[in-house]
Amino acid sequence: MDATEVFWTLHRDLPREGVGSDATTRTLLDLARPLPAAPRVLDIGCGPGRASLVLAAAGARVTAVDLHEPFLHRVRRAATDAGLCDRVAVERASMTALPHADAVFDLLWCEGAAYLMGVDAALRDWRRLLRPGGVLVLTDAVWTTASPSDEARGFWAAYPAMRDEAATVTAARAAGYDVLAAHLLPDSDWVDEYHRPLEAAIDGWPDPDAATAAVLAEARTEIDVRRAHGDEFGYLGVVLRRR
Ligand SMILES: C[S@@+](CC[C@H](N)C(=O)[O-])C[C@H]1O[C@@H](n2cnc3c(N)ncnc32)[C@H](O)[C@@H]1O
Repeated sequence: MDATEVFWTLHRDLPREGVGSDATTRTLLDLARPLPAAPRVLDIGCGPGRASLVLAAAGARVTAVDLHEPFLHRVRRAATDAGLCDRVAVERASMTALPHADAVFDLLWCEGAAYLMGVDAALRDWRRLLRPGGVLVLTDAVWTTASPSDEARGFWAAYPAMRDEAATVTAARAAGYDVLAAHLLPDSDWVDEYHRPLEAAIDGWPDPDAATAAVLAEARTEIDVRRAHGDEFGYLGVVLRRR
């Protein structure tokens, strides 16, 4: 198994692919109101689709997009199991070239994926998809201290564009949005549905060879850095209305 296969196998059955929770999705949805009774929502980089399901259960008509076909399969199956398949459409599409027409969505949703194309590019490129007055909700990693430790800085060196809350808000305003809310996700959103299941998957890997062990060690580092330095960085949800 190469490193990519190990990564996807490790992540295959996690309940979600990043920091968050159903409760936080509901909180951010409430902060995005008022919205139409059955808003049209695009969930960008949906992963296994937890947010899509919460939004659909709240009455939204959701289009869930991702590039990773096994996640799209999981979203389809979960929507069917929850009796929500008439409210969740699943499409394979890249966040960098979304094929949807302008101004068709009331709400754009992106938990923990905008960084993959860069938050500034996402703010700029996705704005056209929103009807005037529509809302973009995204979550992203942010610094919560001006002087992070070397260890935290070293871990996040892979994300040099990471900012703090104030700079994120300033960037959103400059990109043509009013900032309705900025909500720091609770520590339980890191632990309960992301790091704890990830750690169980790492611990449960049977007899990893050296290459696999290196991928597992990298995943464990993410958990360890958060445990040791969780007061230096966080995950921020921003709720942005298109001006
Ligand atoms: C960190 S995960 C977040 C997934 C999900 N929102 C969640 O919170 O569980 C990032 C997701 O973006 C997807 N992805 C990566 N590149 C993408 C692209 N260019 N277009 C669409 N999705 C992409 C990955 O397959 C993955 O599901």
